[in-house]
Amino acid sequence: MQHLIDISDLSNKQIDVILRDATTFKTKRPIQLLQDKLLIALFFEDSTRTRSSFEIAAKKLGAAVVHLDPSTSSTNKGETLEDTFANLCAMQPDGVIIRHAQNDIPRQLADMEMTSVINAGAGNYAHPTQALLDLFTIMEHFNGDIKGKTVGIVGDIISSRVASSAIRLFERMGLNVILIAPKPFMPQSDLVQYENLDEALEHLDVIMSLRAQLERHQTPVFEDYQEYAKHYCITKERMQNREILILHPGPVMHNIDISDEMLQDPRCKVLEQVTNGVYIRMAVLKLLMLDA
Ligand code: CP
Repeated sequence: MQHLIDISDLSNKQIDVILRDATTFKTKRPIQLLQDKLLIALFFEDSTRTRSSFEIAAKKLGAAVVHLDPSTSSTNKGETLEDTFANLCAMQPDGVIIRHAQNDIPRQLADMEMTSVINAGAGNYAHPTQALLDLFTIMEHFNGDIKGKTVGIVGDIISSRVASSAIRLFERMGLNVILIAPKPFMPQSDLVQYENLDEALEHLDVIMSLRAQLERHQTPVFEDYQEYAKHYCITKERMQNREILILHPGPVMHNIDISDEMLQDPRCKVLEQVTNGVYIRMAVLKLLMLDA
């Protein structure tokens, strides 16, 4: 039984298969490869993109998806997560897609070996399908020629599971990664670090902008995000004519992470990332439900 909890669960060959299948799904009308499959989605944290795109991906491949809303589930009567999961597995799904605020929950459920578990974002550690869709978007932009290209991750890196998974996947695929953040947002890392975005820009082929994850801050890190934006917002004035691909996993804090003007700029591929998320998740589901 194969799970996708972290990027490390995938071999390089499997990553290649996912990227190739995503390209095929994007260019050809998909066939109902997963017609007899049932998935259960269990989102303990809010989501727009990941939850919708997993459901669309499953439906495009013919699979059925059942969502359990934790806010109206028997977890409110004291049922443990392990019991909730075991009961869902007793209904014999082919996989459970889970998002949770704690880093280790998806792995704990996977270790019960009752069904294939797919991590749709856990704590500040892992969001593997986001990393895959970001890699896919970068590969599309550079026609596959990504080795040696430099990605600058800008913003609240320390709180970000997107950054954590992206760093590990991008380095594995031969990209250079540098971190750009004010001190409170900078994690412990051996990677090259900049506090000044303007100084870092000349080294970058890709910017991955991240929002401040206010929901994960125990106390407010900055009082004034307008002041933060003066230093870290991706603006036309800052970018000038530099040929840098601009990414953001969403949700974007307008004019704090990226200016409205830059969101309309052809260098900014935020919505293309969302489109690619469907095809990457189709490829992941195919891998886990059929190939593996
Ligand atoms: N990128 C991402 O995880 O977005 P959602 O929180 O909306 O799923």
